[in-house]
Amino acid sequence: MATTAPPLVNPFREGLSLEGATQPVQLVIFGASGDLTQRKLLPAIYNLCQAKLAPPAFSVIGFARQPMTDDQFRKVLTDSVAASSEVRVRDAAALQQLVECTHYVAGDFHDDAAYATLRDAMQRYDRQYATNGNRIFYTATPASLYGDIAAHLHGAGLVKPGEQPSFVRMIVEKPFGRDLASAKALNSELLTYVGEDQIYRIDHYLGKETVQNILVLRFANGIFEPIWNRRYVDSVQITVAESLGIEGRGSFYEETGVVRDVIQNHALQLMSLVGMEPPVSFDAHDFRDEKVRVVKAIHPVTPADVASVAVRGQYGPGSVAGDRVVGYRQEPGVDPNSITPTYAALRLVIDNWRWAGVPFYIRSGKRMPKRITEIAMQFKEAPHLPFRKAEVETPGGNVLALQIQPDEGVTLHFDAKVPGPSMRIRAVEMDFNYGETFGVSDASPYERLILDCMKGDQTLFDRADGVEAAWAIVDPILTAWASDKDVKFPNYDAGTWGPAVADELLARDGRSWRRL
Ligand SMILES: NC(=O)c1ccc[n+]([C@@H]2O[C@H](COP(=O)([O-])OP(=O)(O)OC[C@H]3O[C@@H](n4cnc5c(N)ncnc54)[C@H](OP(=O)(O)O)[C@@H]3O)[C@@H](O)[C@H]2O)c1
Repeated sequence: MATTAPPLVNPFREGLSLEGATQPVQLVIFGASGDLTQRKLLPAIYNLCQAKLAPPAFSVIGFARQPMTDDQFRKVLTDSVAASSEVRVRDAAALQQLVECTHYVAGDFHDDAAYATLRDAMQRYDRQYATNGNRIFYTATPASLYGDIAAHLHGAGLVKPGEQPSFVRMIVEKPFGRDLASAKALNSELLTYVGEDQIYRIDHYLGKETVQNILVLRFANGIFEPIWNRRYVDSVQITVAESLGIEGRGSFYEETGVVRDVIQNHALQLMSLVGMEPPVSFDAHDFRDEKVRVVKAIHPVTPADVASVAVRGQYGPGSVAGDRVVGYRQEPGVDPNSITPTYAALRLVIDNWRWAGVPFYIRSGKRMPKRITEIAMQFKEAPHLPFRKAEVETPGGNVLALQIQPDEGVTLHFDAKVPGPSMRIRAVEMDFNYGETFGVSDASPYERLILDCMKGDQTLFDRADGVEAAWAIVDPILTAWASDKDVKFPNYDAGTWGPAVADELLARDGRSWRRL
């Protein structure tokens, strides 16, 4: 008798699609003359308008210190759209429509009078564009100003917690704090003026299609979940490698370093998506509850552990893609004796039933041989090989590699028989490539995330407890490294895969880094 399989519990009740209602809204960009606004935000807003995803009643107000007229800021908008490689369709009519509802207000973010001017302008444009009092504030400013901006907005009557029926939302850029204490202080300052349900802490990695595909791969397919645990997974490697150096941002990087720049946010986001339990739904609360839970389950790194679970590196001169490049200490704006790490590798474990004993190795570095972000699940070996060892040419074992960038896709590595009369075994790959399969270019992460904010969907944004949990993991490492200045840098050449100590970190466990 045929039996009907019970339906899978699918958390994608409404799908992670871009559909959904957006209400009229006014988008106010703090730091409108800055790099992020010009390179990322304005092209993303244009794309949303061009695709008719932004609401029909919409306006943009740029706010920064530099004096500019509306027309000058509109020129900034058209220039940044013209220069952006992220613009998919060049549509003069859509651009003109956006230009016409774009305005600019000049003022210092510390100055009460500037907020009064902003408030007057917002009220005027709210009437003009019928945006119903709905507002989104985007802080594309130095991070030191975020708390101050919220306080001033509150002082000017432009935000208050939980406003209804109009909505007020605040998108807060990375970095969110520079350690656990400052992240807690910033959370508490912001939460004085706006509610948690109004704060959208952005990590643009979560807006990437392939990062969201980790969730679909895991939770929309029945075949992976049964083996996604300590019984079958030997270890996990997460690599976020950049071939670029610091691109003239020496003073920024000196204050930041690789742990604050990449590991506390992007790399731990990836780890949480791989490690989390299936959420009941992709409702923002359910999803973020699970994501935070797994970060909290990461075994705390104590000061005494740091030397055994974390290593650091800094690049010296070398060559990347055939070009000679200087070492970090020779970059403009960098202290010639700097001990800022440009590379770090961590060995973390998750203390729960699913992952107990499975090491998660995370590495990130600048001036690596290539730009690649990848998560590799290394599965355990078959318990018994009925073949003579000599017949196995290149045993690769089973690896499921999720490529996040630049070639987005999924590859399954497994062993196969080489054709011929004898039993010879070689590692082969089965590939899924996003671009080839779907043939469309991705929406930029900013597009996706700004749209989600317009829709009031916080799923792909960080919650206060998530940010703090991630800082709690890296804080002891940062503290230990800041106090131990006796480090021999540089310890890897530009264009190589990092320092020898990183190899030793895995060699101690009888493992090695994947060659990418
Ligand atoms: N750039 C990126 O790709 C990127 C990526 C991820 C995150 N972020 C984050 O996004 C934020 C902005 O980065 P960015 O690279 O765009 O910085 P930026 O180029 O230095 O721009 C800063 C903006 O803030 C304005 N500003 C600064 N102090 C001000 C004040 N007291 N009053 C009024 N305006 C003030 C500047 O206006 P004036 O020029 O008029 O002074 C400028 O528009 C930072 O927190 C950064 O960490 C940036």
